[in-house]
This record gives sequence, C-alpha cells and structure tokens, in this order.
Amino acid sequence: MQISIRAWVLGLVVLLPANAQVRQPAVPLVAPRVWDDYSIATLEVPLANPAGSPKHISSGFYYRIPVRPVYKTYPVYAPGREPEGYMDWLKQREPEIFWDDAGRKPSLRTESDWIAAGEAIFDAPIYYTNHRVVALPDVRNPQWYQATGAPVARDGTLPYVRYVVRQKGTVDLGNFACGFCHSRVMPDGGVIKGAQGNFPFEKSKAWSFRPSPATPGQLSAKESALRRLDGGLFAVPWISPDPLDAIKALSFTQLVSAHAAIPAEVIGRHRLALFLPVPIPDLIGVKDRHYLDRTGLQKQGSIADLMRYAALNQGADDLASYNGFVPAEFLSSTAPLDPADSVAVGGRYSDEQLYALALYLYSLQPPPNPNKMDSVAARGKRIFQSQGCAVCHTPPLYTNNKLTPAEGFHVPGDARAVLDVLPVPVGTDPNLTMSTRRGTGYYKVPSIRGVWYRSMFGHNGWCATLEGWFDPNRVRGDYVPTGFRPYGAETFAVKGHVFGLDLSAGDRKVLIAFLKTL
Ligand code: HEC
Ligand code: HEC
Repeated sequence: MQISIRAWVLGLVVLLPANAQVRQPAVPLVAPRVWDDYSIATLEVPLANPAGSPKHISSGFYYRIPVRPVYKTYPVYAPGREPEGYMDWLKQREPEIFWDDAGRKPSLRTESDWIAAGEAIFDAPIYYTNHRVVALPDVRNPQWYQATGAPVARDGTLPYVRYVVRQKGTVDLGNFACGFCHSRVMPDGGVIKGAQGNFPFEKSKAWSFRPSPATPGQLSAKESALRRLDGGLFAVPWISPDPLDAIKALSFTQLVSAHAAIPAEVIGRHRLALFLPVPIPDLIGVKDRHYLDRTGLQKQGSIADLMRYAALNQGADDLASYNGFVPAEFLSSTAPLDPADSVAVGGRYSDEQLYALALYLYSLQPPPNPNKMDSVAARGKRIFQSQGCAVCHTPPLYTNNKLTPAEGFHVPGDARAVLDVLPVPVGTDPNLTMSTRRGTGYYKVPSIRGVWYRSMFGHNGWCATLEGWFDPNRVRGDYVPTGFRPYGAETFAVKGHVFGLDLSAGDRKVLIAFLKTL
C-alpha cells in the first residue's frame, strides 16, 4: 500500500494546478432557513454502516423548540485575579436579555452589525451551573486549575466560560458556548477566538465526576450519572462490538482516569468515543472547507450549511434516531420527546442568530504569523512540492477538500458521483471513521494552514507537535505518542500517512519550518 500510494502521489505532482482563487459571493443580509427538511436529510454523508445514519427531526418539531434567550454575560476571573467586590457587584445586576425571539434583538443593519451580533452568539452559553463538565465552584477553586491545567488569559480571565445573571441575586456559570471549546489561550496569555480551543474539557469532566469516597452513597449516583452521560454520547448500538463496551469494562475510577488522560485540545465529543476523541479544529478559514469534521461527516455547500452544523451539534442531532437509538431520549429517560421539554430537548438558536454566528465565523482572520518565509522555509517549500504534499494539501487552502477512504472501507458505488473521494487511503487508524456515530468510512484531508498555532495532529490527536507527526519512529510499536494516548496504552504505533517520514533529519526540519509559515 505504502509504495503504491507514494507512487500515485508523485505521479500527480506534475499535474498540480496553479493556485486556485476562491471567489467570495456578496452576502445577502437575510437569514436563510436553517431547518429545511430536504437540506437536513441530504446534509450528512451516510455513516460507514448506513443502517445507523440519523433520521433527523422534522422542521415542524424543530421550530416548536423554544429559542434560548441570550443574556448579557460577564467575564470569569481566576482566583486571585478577580477585582475586589466583583461577585457582590454581579449579584446586584439586573438580568439583561440581549437577544430573544420575543422582540429584543441587537441592531442588524450592516454586515458589521451582524458580525458583532454573531460574536455575542459565539460567546453565549447554552448551559449553566448545573452542567457536569464545569461548575461555578470549580472555576473559583485553585485546586481545579492545578488538576486540569486550565490556562488563564493575560488579563486574569478564564475566557471559555462567562458569568450570567438570569435572576437578580444569583450568579450562574454559563458554559457550552462555541467559545467554550473554540477559544485558545496562547502561551503569551493572548486569546484567539475560533482557533483550536484549549479548555481542558475532559480533565474538567474527570474532576467533576472524581470519586469522593468520603461521602458514601454519592459514589454510585455519580457513577450512574457518568455512565449514562457517556452512553448517550458514545453508544453505537447497531454495530458489534459497540465501542461503548470498552468503557463498560472499566471500573468507575478507571473510567474517570480515562477521561483525565485526554489532553486539553482533544475531546471525546458526542457521536465519537472515549477512546476515539478528536482534536478541536481551527475555525479560522472554515468558510473554504467543503467537508466538516475529521470524518467529513457534514457537507458545507453554503453558509446555511454551517448554520445547520451549529444547530445540529448544539443539541439537534441528539434528537435524531440512529437506527432507533435517540440519544436525547436515552439521556433523559423520556420518550417520546416533546419539543417544549427544556430539560430533555433543550433550546435552539433562532435562524437569525445562526446566520449572525456563521457570518462571524466567516469573518475570522488568522493571527499574525511570527514565522517568516526565510531561506530555510523556502527550502522546506521545495521539499513540500517535491514530496507531492500539495497533491492533497493544495495551496492556497492547503487542502484539496477531498475525502480519503479509511483502510478497509469499501466506497459504495453511488458515493463517487456525489462525494469528492481520492482513490487511495492514507492508512491511518480506521476505527474513528468505521465505528462511531460520526464515522463515514472516510477521513477528510485537513487544511494545514495555521498549524503553527495548533497542536495534536492526526485524527485522534496522537502527536502533540509537527515534529512528532513527522517522526519516523511513530509507525513503530514501541513508540510513545506525545499527544492523546488512550488510558492504559503506554506505547503504540501511529500508523499511516507515511508522507515525509523517510526524509533526512535536515530536510524534515526545513519542511516543518515551511509548514509553520502557513
Ligand atoms: C463541547 C465542545 C464544543 C462546543 C461547545 C462546540 N464545538 Fe465545534 N467542534 C468541537 C469538536 C471536538 C469538533 C471536531 C469534531 C470532529 O472533527 O469530529 C468541532 C467541530 C466544529 C466544526 C467543524 C470544523 C471542521 O473544519 O471540521 C465547526 C464548524 C464547529 N465545530 C463550529 C462550532 C460552533 C459554531 C459552535 C457553537 C454553536 C461549536 N462548534 C461548539 C467541539 C465543540
Ligand atoms: C494522499 C493525500 C495526502 C498527501 C500526499 C499528504 N497528506 Fe497530509 N494528510 C492527509 C490526510 C487524509 C490527513 C488526515 C489523516 C488523518 O487524520 O487520519 C493528513 C494529515 C496531515 C497533517 C496533520 C494535520 C492535522 O491537523 O491533523 C499534516 C501536518 C500533514 N498531513 C502534512 C503533510 C505533508 C507535509 C505532506 C507531504 C510530505 C502530506 N501531508 C502529504 C492527506 C495527505
């Protein structure tokens, strides 16, 4: 396989097109309809085992879900960094609704109005103190920072979460905004919204559920809550073995440790698996991507599709039936679901809010790159070209926007007509895409723009750095991966994507120097 894919790639180098220009259509400032039944039904690439492909709720159901009011929010400070009297001051604030569907909304006349409103949606929490990944006492507790390694911004804030006053006198911790997972605190304390997030999601979840033997009785309630939550997130009951079986075999303490083993930039998100989490993508540049998610699960043909991605991933895809399994019913023990049930179903964004959010995401620009195109990087660029990297990581996007089939996946006959599929697999581990609820049988060719400000490479984030991704030893069984290592695994081969692995140490170094300029 290795020889043939290399030969295939090098055979194509001469055919590379000159840099394609991406045309930007003018933006009509009218929100498209998000939940259009036909668009929703054809949005996702079928799952590897199409029996489990979700049947999403109808537009009738969707539009009966209440729109969540978006409140004014306030920064959260790390212990020792909070202005004096801040909590008392917050307790005296009146609740202020910024945007709801009962008449309150920001000015939306110009494109910059929409973008500013979209940034507020990006930062708007959808869950509050009661949520199980992080709670208000945690972010005020120095031990939580020690246990999770949560980075604090230069101005003393924890930018992933916000305080919210929904009732005068009560301060809530709001979380699960887009910015919860898609904000990055840089080493210098600056914050980049939309970059790969680095909130220690799984470590904080492990902290929330940490076994506390001092209070007997509580343990089993915590355990059953965590097992139910993980069951709803990860179960794939129509395949055997169900990846959930691997966690059923763990004791509660082991299960909590397995969450804590996942680095900050990597998340066992819903529709994935605890042992198959993914690195958070950089959203800067998302406009140009034809496929969303590592498995290319969702197509993006227009801004409305990005709005649909946000709606689905902030609750609506849990309402779908996956071969009869409805995650929201499983999580809440409620069936059938009632659209107005704010506990079992949650809320939704309005179409206008989603449009503003998507316009904001499309407006994001990368931070200034400190890595300049010098003579070393120029040598790296020549290696990039001669190695055929650009066949797949084609400039200017540094992706050809195509899918590669996973090893062992048989591409269905009708798929080639509707999907952009390369004829060859790159040979990385097939499990994520073969056995999860986001698994399509493909991996997309990720854009490698902006790799200088992100980490955790490969679709499970096994390699913390580019140096690790191009380390020839990574394909050996005794390799110690520097990024995500599933709980209990000390050494393993990070196989596949052999491109660049046979370069000399010097050539590898300059190739990496070039990649960091992108
Ligand atoms: C709980 C953490 C979390 C929250 C909250 C979250 N995301 Fe994500 N997001 C992720 C992870 C993890 C992925 C990668 C999924 C994958 O590759 O399978 C992702 C992927 C995406 C992608 C696909 C990008 C690509 O190139 O593949 C988009 C777009 C996106 N998120 C937008 C949003 C928006 C908009 C919001 C808020 C409405 C949001 N996300 C909230 C964790 C989160
Ligand atoms: C045949 C297509 C193909 C070629 C050629 C190719 N890549 Fe890739 N590249 C991929 C795919 C697909 C992935 C994602 C693999 C996965 O996650 O399983 C990837 C992942 C990567 C990543 C990790 C990105 C991330 O966010 O995880 C980097 C960096 C990278 N490639 C650089 C290169 C370089 C440099 C070369 C040339 C030496 C190269 N690639 C050649 C298809 C290709």
